[in-house]
Amino acid sequence: MNQHTRPQSISEQADHLEEEMMHELERVVTKSTLHYLSDGEVKMDTSVGLWAQHPGAVFNMGPDPRLPPMPEKPTLIDYFKCRFAQHAHLLQSATHALKAGCNEKVILACLLHDIAVVSFIRCDHGYWGAQMIEPYVDEEVSWAVRTHQALRFFPDEAAGYPYPEMYVKLFGDDYKPEPYIVAEYERARNHKWYMTSRLICVNDIYSFDPNAKVNLDDFVDIIGRNFRQPEEGLGLDSSPSAHMWRTMMWPNRFL
Ligand SMILES: [Fe+2]
Ligand SMILES: [Fe+2]
Repeated sequence: MNQHTRPQSISEQADHLEEEMMHELERVVTKSTLHYLSDGEVKMDTSVGLWAQHPGAVFNMGPDPRLPPMPEKPTLIDYFKCRFAQHAHLLQSATHALKAGCNEKVILACLLHDIAVVSFIRCDHGYWGAQMIEPYVDEEVSWAVRTHQALRFFPDEAAGYPYPEMYVKLFGDDYKPEPYIVAEYERARNHKWYMTSRLICVNDIYSFDPNAKVNLDDFVDIIGRNFRQPEEGLGLDSSPSAHMWRTMMWPNRFL
């Protein structure tokens, strides 16, 4: 009988556990270049540099043990619970749309309009968010999420959307959208789905109300009917944006 088939003694089990813990500790977590760029540094983690600090270390190639564990086949709801840094703004917007009697596409678009900001990246968040959801939702929903990036800078008083006071506070009164945003707005103005995207802006809650009661459970059915959850798990499927979800699940994989 070799040591792999006989049951391990208590001390062997303890040795094994200790060895596993050591490996766990040796699994060095690295950062992507984007994190350094955000800190104003053009630099990157390299294996040589990291080995100088952690001789003989291996690098994390799976889940980051510091983050909430994701289930084997994650759903959009799991990302809401384990990876989105904030739900309140999205839930408030979607609740606003629900109470205003908007259709389910608009409600879903409101629920997802800023997922890029809460989970991933701020710059061009409408474009990133649209790309993340595109394979899983009706084209009108992802179009609306993409386009809200531009529309929110342009008032439409008739639709109930003045230029947000909050933007003056956030960006200053001299902020002018870049030409690519102006061009996006011009293209969107006569588009058949203009109002779907405009309704994201109308239901966008710029002043956060800490007392508003919002609950993700209220939207589980709408998500179920309008978001095509892949069987393999969101991010473990082969859609053109699955890698974006995987990156959120395993943000510190070395490669
Ligand atoms: Fe937004
Ligand atoms: Fe928003």
